[in-house]
Amino acid sequence: MNTVLSSLNLQQKNSGTFSSTWLNSTQAKEIVSYSPIDGATLGAVEITDDASYEIVLKNSQDTFLKWREYPAPKRGEIIRLLGQELRNNKEGLAHLITLECGKIYSESLGEVQEAIDIADFAVGLSRQLYGLTMHSERPNHRMYEQWHPLGPVAVITAFNFPLAVWAWNACIAAVCGDTIVWKPSELTPLIAVAATKIAEKITSQFGFAGVFSLVNGAGAEVGKKIAADKRFPLVSATGSTRMGREVGQVVAARLGKSLLELGGNNAVIVMEDADLNLVVDSIAFGAAGTTGQRCTTTRRVFVAESIADSFTKALIDKYKKLIIGNPLDSTTQIGPLINAQAVKAFEAAIIRVNKEGGQVLEGGNVIKDLYVEPTIVAATPEMKLVEEETFAPIVYVMKVKNIEQAIALQNAVPQGLSSALFSDSIKYSEYFLSTAGSDCGIANINIGTSGAEIGGAFGGEKDTGGGRESGSDSWKIYMRRQTNTINWGGRVVLAQGVKF
Ligand code: UN1
Repeated sequence: MNTVLSSLNLQQKNSGTFSSTWLNSTQAKEIVSYSPIDGATLGAVEITDDASYEIVLKNSQDTFLKWREYPAPKRGEIIRLLGQELRNNKEGLAHLITLECGKIYSESLGEVQEAIDIADFAVGLSRQLYGLTMHSERPNHRMYEQWHPLGPVAVITAFNFPLAVWAWNACIAAVCGDTIVWKPSELTPLIAVAATKIAEKITSQFGFAGVFSLVNGAGAEVGKKIAADKRFPLVSATGSTRMGREVGQVVAARLGKSLLELGGNNAVIVMEDADLNLVVDSIAFGAAGTTGQRCTTTRRVFVAESIADSFTKALIDKYKKLIIGNPLDSTTQIGPLINAQAVKAFEAAIIRVNKEGGQVLEGGNVIKDLYVEPTIVAATPEMKLVEEETFAPIVYVMKVKNIEQAIALQNAVPQGLSSALFSDSIKYSEYFLSTAGSDCGIANINIGTSGAEIGGAFGGEKDTGGGRESGSDSWKIYMRRQTNTINWGGRVVLAQGVKF
């Protein structure tokens, strides 16, 4: 462990505040980081005090004034080097992600890769922040739109993707010309310090160390302060729907913008013609992978009655073979949950399964400490529990009569992040993707609900918060649009034919 920390330039005790330089807190308060693998203390990070918070904000605003003038392709060059530095530290960062959040090493490598990918995407984007031109209705007039940066952007991230979600926001916002203030989860503060040190190494060479800042503290304190702080024109927050509702309301009250990526309750629909091997492997990764702690985790399965029994049997067989254990071991597929609270939530859900008339078909037990069995439940749509997101590896399997019923049930929950249909039928697939089909931000055919690529816009509807981050044109939320009309004719011509 010490080798990992030193390879990433971390100490046992670290400043938790970066604002062009690392600031020390005057308070004794710190966040201790424990590994969910075995409870070992990994290190500690100081909580940002009020005075340091002000320094961060002032510096982020000042840096913004210079950064926005630095040409976008040159900002892209800095992000290219950041991506390179992430590549150089891929194994160390992945190791730390596994230690601090407990996901298996292969998934941690994937998470660092996701950060590298978005850096690459942002480099290209830095030359493509296009606005449209439109034909003016008036003679000798030109109309076009352009995109300008916003200012300091706050990025609040969750424990389960402690690096990638910052990178999605930070790389894109940075090429857009914004500065970024990151408030990571209290459960994964060391990864945030490590990533900020990597960013610092690059940005400081160009005199732009103030572009990526870091604050640490409890969501209820620092997070609240950020939401209410008018100096952030945009607050991007990833986490629970409860958290997002609070942040969203506070930001909206000051007419700021928010980008919310919140809870999911993602469903897979399995039709009678589905390829069962494909389905079973995809559901096992989607529902049990990452120990059920992705916002895109598969939580519900709607299976056609005619194949329900063979499907369920195949899924149970697959689950019996899953290897649960230390996420650093290369054969392990399922690591621990993040903390004792998560284990309690798992246990509470299992108790409710029985009370609400469901039946545990596989798993259902806590193995030891933070390790639980991936669980398959035979459920009915009437169970209130299936409407909720329990951040644990529990999947509810429900039988359906037809595609119409499956889609209606899939959409009948408050969340709307990810969804998938398994079928080779064009009719089913097109219906699922049509306006009457899935109401989610992500809808897949013959692939699971989790593990999206960075190139698409990522996010969902309803209680998922409506935000889109990562690829496609998600960059637009990090900028302000300006419509420009230029009269080069020397004569006043009013629009809509108005005479004055
Ligand atoms: C999250 O869980 O908040 O699609 C993000 C996925 C990942 C990102 C998940 N690329 O599962």
